[in-house]
Amino acid sequence: MTKAYMRVENLVKKFGPFTALAGVDLEVFPGEVLALLGDNGAGKSTLIKILAGVHQPSGGQIFIEDKPVHFRSPRDASAAGIGTVYQDLALNQLMSVTRNFFMGRELKNRFGMLRMDEMDKIAHDEMLKIGIDFSDPTQAVGTMSGGQRQTLAIARAIYFGAKVLILDEPTSALGQKQQMEVLKTIKRVRQRGDIAIIFITHNEIHSQLVADRFTFLALGKVIGAGKKEDLAHDEIRRLMAGGAEMRDLEQELAEV
Ligand SMILES: Nc1ncnc2c1ncn2[C@@H]1O[C@H](COP(=O)(O)OP(=O)(O)OP(=O)(O)O)[C@@H](O)[C@H]1O
Ligand SMILES: [Mg+2]
Repeated sequence: MTKAYMRVENLVKKFGPFTALAGVDLEVFPGEVLALLGDNGAGKSTLIKILAGVHQPSGGQIFIEDKPVHFRSPRDASAAGIGTVYQDLALNQLMSVTRNFFMGRELKNRFGMLRMDEMDKIAHDEMLKIGIDFSDPTQAVGTMSGGQRQTLAIARAIYFGAKVLILDEPTSALGQKQQMEVLKTIKRVRQRGDIAIIFITHNEIHSQLVADRFTFLALGKVIGAGKKEDLAHDEIRRLMAGGAEMRDLEQELAEV
């Protein structure tokens, strides 16, 4: 049995009197995709913002390789190997692929000059490893497709040391073809075997296609979790609906 790279116990987050997370447990394993599913407002983004060091938890504990950790900032989380790719990607459309790849972490020579050729090669090679042959990384990011941009952001996170790769709804703003490109990228990262992926999605089919395990959140609580092979389709559908039974939903509509 592989060891969990990161484990979360009884995580609580309160915003004033409101409880956004009410004691969440989670573990992620290298070489595995964990789909994190749940309705709007379930607490998915709040959870990953805590893992990414953006929010501080109100209670509970995060462990990295069994050691308790406290992230005071995104920098702390990043140093611990948590790489987060947000939906807006934080890319500068007008700047080149390479400049975006190295944004704020540029390679410089001893005179302080940018080592552009080397950075171009690394950006190209790292993206190629997980699936896109973007031949000219000196081009602006604006010339890339939506799927390629996701891949750029993922390749960047991995190059800078992510051991847990958190993807917040990476397929939601894309067309079908681009969605498949992103799922392929996720699969290639999984195949490396050394990175744990947390894949947040509303799309049941996408989660079925690439995830090894599922965790379902509703109103800040885990209402179901398990390996793909242990979860029946009906059960997944019920958990996706926040735990509601189909017949109860039908009943509610029947009253109209
Ligand atoms: N900064 C905040 N202050 C107050 N309440 C917040 C804050 N951030 C989130 N919440 C509340 O916490 C709950 C969980 O929100 P969160 O954004 O984590 O949900 P989500 O599962 O990511 O939903 P979605 O699928 O819509 O992105 C919501 O009720 C939200 O209104
Ligand atoms: Mg969200």
